[in-house]
Amino acid sequence: MRVSSSRGALPVFLSAVVRRPKVIGALIPSSPALARRLAAVVPSTESPVVVELGAGTGAVSTAIARRMPESGRHVAVELDGELAAHLQEAFPRIDVAHANAIHLDTVLAERGLDSVDAVVGGLPWSLIGPPQQQRILDHVAKVLAPNGAFTTFAYLHALPLGGARSFRELLEATFDEVLPTRVVWRNFPPALTYVCRRPHRS
Ligand SMILES: C[S@@+](CC[C@H](N)C(=O)[O-])C[C@H]1O[C@@H](n2cnc3c(N)ncnc32)[C@H](O)[C@@H]1O
Repeated sequence: MRVSSSRGALPVFLSAVVRRPKVIGALIPSSPALARRLAAVVPSTESPVVVELGAGTGAVSTAIARRMPESGRHVAVELDGELAAHLQEAFPRIDVAHANAIHLDTVLAERGLDSVDAVVGGLPWSLIGPPQQQRILDHVAKVLAPNGAFTTFAYLHALPLGGARSFRELLEATFDEVLPTRVVWRNFPPALTYVCRRPHRS
């Protein structure tokens, strides 16, 4: 169950944008429409293990929590300490790891998790750089259950840029299936999501 934090999510997010613009990579949190689209890969039955990367103030966490059965497990990885603390206070049922997603293997090993049903990515990929993108995607590919799915988003205006194109190529090199979804116009800026399945096992 969600409890209210002493500061609202938006002021906390905006102060993080001012403190660390090159880590946050967005001006405002994702909209409920984009969050629902990202969370659609979360199984709504049994006891799924779901990992969220770059959870921020919890816009997407809310949509994940709405789909998750009570018996599921939701681990959120967030690099910024203030955002991680805010998230943990606002969402006591989520297991928040204050960590860099490049250390996802360690985060999961510390929790005794070696298989995950869904990974929901909210990371600012264009700011992360190809070597680290590759490392993170390799960790995701390694832990994803055979029927699992990884989803993430890209802003529409950035799609023609080299960084977005090379990230898409990296997704296709990592997963057998990479499905771009239709544009979510009710987001600032408009975005689409990629739903990725069946990692190529190296
Ligand atoms: C674009 S914001 C998205 C926040 C939230 N998921 C949403 O959609 O509103 C990106 C988030 O990823 C976090 N982040 C950036 N690089 C990260 C990394 N390497 N590991 C974990 N989190 C990271 C930022 O601190 C920020 O909270």
